Amino acid sequence: MYNLEKCRIIDLPKISDPRGNLTFIEASRHVPFEIKRIYYTYDVPGGSDRGAHAHKNLHQLIIAMSGSFDVVLDDGFDQKRFHLNRSYFGLYVCPMMWRYLDNFSSGSVCLVLASSLYDADDYYRDYDAFVKDAGKARK
Ligand code: TYD
Repeated sequence: MYNLEKCRIIDLPKISDPRGNLTFIEASRHVPFEIKRIYYTYDVPGGSDRGAHAHKNLHQLIIAMSGSFDVVLDDGFDQKRFHLNRSYFGLYVCPMMWRYLDNFSSGSVCLVLASSLYDADDYYRDYDAFVKDAGKARK
């Protein structure tokens, strides 16, 4: 069963260097899934929100590659707000988690590592339908 407790900030390796820091991510070692897809959002206008949806099966790691933003997670019972502002922190988001992103700083870049290819059928776009199924899964 998936719930908010499974979602957490993962500390990624950071090689500090006066020439510029370096972070790397190895599939299945630093993230708890095989990476099948990468996408990123950028040029997000101040004040906009993104990602009001949930996924049935998708695992994701969300990283503020540049700038900062908040990710609000909701498992149908509880909500938690995470502020991401470092490129060596990743927020692991398990399946069955409603999420939206807001509070974008200007020039921020949100990188997402995902466990499968894009599949429109994996989405809940309707919050009430999501809450209903999340409730059923706990019975
Ligand atoms: P979506 O996941 O709905 O983002 P948001 O909820 O923040 O708007 O994606 C927006 C659009 O981009 C949607 O039409 C689907 C498309 N898309 C892809 O084609 N491939 C992808 O990997 C992703 C993430 C989105």
